[in-house]
Amino acid sequence: MLSMIYACDLKGAIGKDGDLPWKQSSDLQHFKRITIRKTVVMGRKTWDSLPSGGLPKRRNIVMSRTQRQDVEVMDFEQVLELSQNEEIIIIGGGEIYSLFIDHCKEIHRTIIHTEVEDADTHAPDISQLGYVLIGEKHHPAGPKDQHPMTFQHWIC
Ligand SMILES: NC(=O)c1ccc[n+]([C@@H]2O[C@H](COP(=O)([O-])OP(=O)(O)OC[C@H]3O[C@@H](n4cnc5c(N)ncnc54)[C@H](OP(=O)(O)O)[C@@H]3O)[C@@H](O)[C@H]2O)c1
Repeated sequence: MLSMIYACDLKGAIGKDGDLPWKQSSDLQHFKRITIRKTVVMGRKTWDSLPSGGLPKRRNIVMSRTQRQDVEVMDFEQVLELSQNEEIIIIGGGEIYSLFIDHCKEIHRTIIHTEVEDADTHAPDISQLGYVLIGEKHHPAGPKDQHPMTFQHWIC
């Protein structure tokens, strides 16, 4: 089964200059809760934005058109095949969300209550894809968050 997790601003922006456009400690904790001990798939640019070694206590898989020695690399078909047997969580970025959006059954979306200026990466529009919102929780900004946020759980 394929699922997806991302955080976006009020207009769907997810990235700027190769990085996250906010500091949201509470959302990082939420991300960790959802992904820990699972298999996560990301694009090479998102991999490059992480500390070396990737995300601990998760099987990290990177999508790239170039083979690498530092991490497990897969192509689109290999990820789809793997998802027949286990839960795979797509963790970004924009190119990889778009690639898999039509194959996902579940989305964990965090709305960050801000509008990022000059964002260069966006999440796909899910409004016409048949997703149903099954859970939503507002979270005020904590001491290590720049903005309030809303955690949403969608299924298709
Ligand atoms: N807000 C969030 O939740 C969130 C989450 C993750 C990332 N982000 C942000 O998103 C941005 C990065 O996203 P992005 O769209 O620029 O890049 P990306 O999706 O992370 O990675 C793109 C790369 O993936 C590889 N790729 C794409 N399609 C492929 C395919 N069909 N087969 C094999 N490999 C393929 C290519 O790597 P090669 O060039 O090596 O071939 C491509 O350059 C950053 O700003 C990051 O911080 C935000």
